[in-house]
Amino acid sequence: MNMVDIIDQKKRGMALTEEQIRFFVQGAAEGTVPDYQLAALLMAIRLQGMNREETVQLTMAMAHSGDICDLSGIQGIPTDKHSTGGVGDTTTLVLAPLVAACGVPVAKMSGRGLGHTGGTLDKLESIPGFRVDLSEEAFLAQVRKLGVAIIGQTKNLAPADKALYALRDVTATVDSLPLIASSIMSKKLASGARAIVLDVKTGAGALMHTLEDSIELARAMVRIGQDAGRRVVALVTDMGEPLGSHVGNALEVKEAIDALSGRTGGPLKRVALALGAQMLVLGGAAKDEAEALGRLEEALQSGAGLERLRRLIIAQGGDPACVDDTACLPQARVVRDVPAPAQGYVLRMDTVGLGMTAQAMGAGRRVKTDVIDPSVGFVLHKRIGDLVRRGEPLATVHARDPESAQTAAQAIARLVEISPQQTPPCKLVHAFVDGERTEMR
Ligand code: URA
Ligand code: CA
Repeated sequence: MNMVDIIDQKKRGMALTEEQIRFFVQGAAEGTVPDYQLAALLMAIRLQGMNREETVQLTMAMAHSGDICDLSGIQGIPTDKHSTGGVGDTTTLVLAPLVAACGVPVAKMSGRGLGHTGGTLDKLESIPGFRVDLSEEAFLAQVRKLGVAIIGQTKNLAPADKALYALRDVTATVDSLPLIASSIMSKKLASGARAIVLDVKTGAGALMHTLEDSIELARAMVRIGQDAGRRVVALVTDMGEPLGSHVGNALEVKEAIDALSGRTGGPLKRVALALGAQMLVLGGAAKDEAEALGRLEEALQSGAGLERLRRLIIAQGGDPACVDDTACLPQARVVRDVPAPAQGYVLRMDTVGLGMTAQAMGAGRRVKTDVIDPSVGFVLHKRIGDLVRRGEPLATVHARDPESAQTAAQAIARLVEISPQQTPPCKLVHAFVDGERTEMR
């Protein structure tokens, strides 16, 4: 097998064979193919694309490049949810306890913040004592006992993806549909869930900006999962503005607890329940979406979801005091309102800019070694379409010092666009994808 031939073949737009795909994936995982050849191949794939068969073979080869998590010891259908990444997107913390309370096991491997998007692990670590580094045995034991566990990816999960993703990041080859779909799905398949609900974001703050591209990505990922023998569906949901009103780690945990306590509804709860309902259907706990939504709403109203979150926090070493009093979460030293600079309607938000603002405040990392400040971030008081009066609070910033508060406040005032023109609120769920069927919502 010769790497130059593989690159040349893809450069000329021909499909690669399964053998060729396995060869370069193994080479990426083991470090036996040099980065310059992998980089050239990635660019050829970015420019020429891959057909359905190649994409499935690439995904399977990457999934099998490391450990495969064996969830067969868990009763029922272990179900996972994966988001392509958003801002103020805390659906996992709301739906995981609710879905578990409805009897579907949730064995979840989550990620850390990346670029402008937040990560579930970073959010959970804002709960004092919470540990995300359980061994695989402890992870499985907890899912069996409690029905839910949330941990980081084990070290040797899809090592080929780790190597290829690092190269894509620095060679302008992230934005390739087959490469994104195979990257995400290889990790999902290796983490062992039998049923997977994908939350594919769309809009300015998402990986794919147009609805058309987002649906195409959703269809590609669903097909890969189904071809691999898993139950997979996708919802395409909006990221034209942050999903929840809270952005920042402890602030997002607070919003999730408020949602599970029935204190707040809104878009975060609606999208969390929409995704959770698909998990109940795939996990065999409800016959259709309507029944699933009813069961989730019941688990929310009865407090069963909140109770499950409390037990999850205790099981993973965290202090559950925050469940009853969110003031026990880390609090920022400086809290100040951001007055609206003008009167009008919120027309648009720069979601990426808002995510970067939270990151710059200390809620995310610029380099891997940065230490996150769990207390910082901001709360938006307005959504797209809302009427705003000049001087009323547009947002509240939670910062570590007055300078950071000032910088963030100025950024938010600039990133939330107010216009005299009235706009309708954003639709939350745009489409549902199941196999070859796409339903617009
Ligand atoms: N997230 C991933 O894990 N992989 C991609 O390629 C893009 C987003
Ligand atoms: Ca991701």
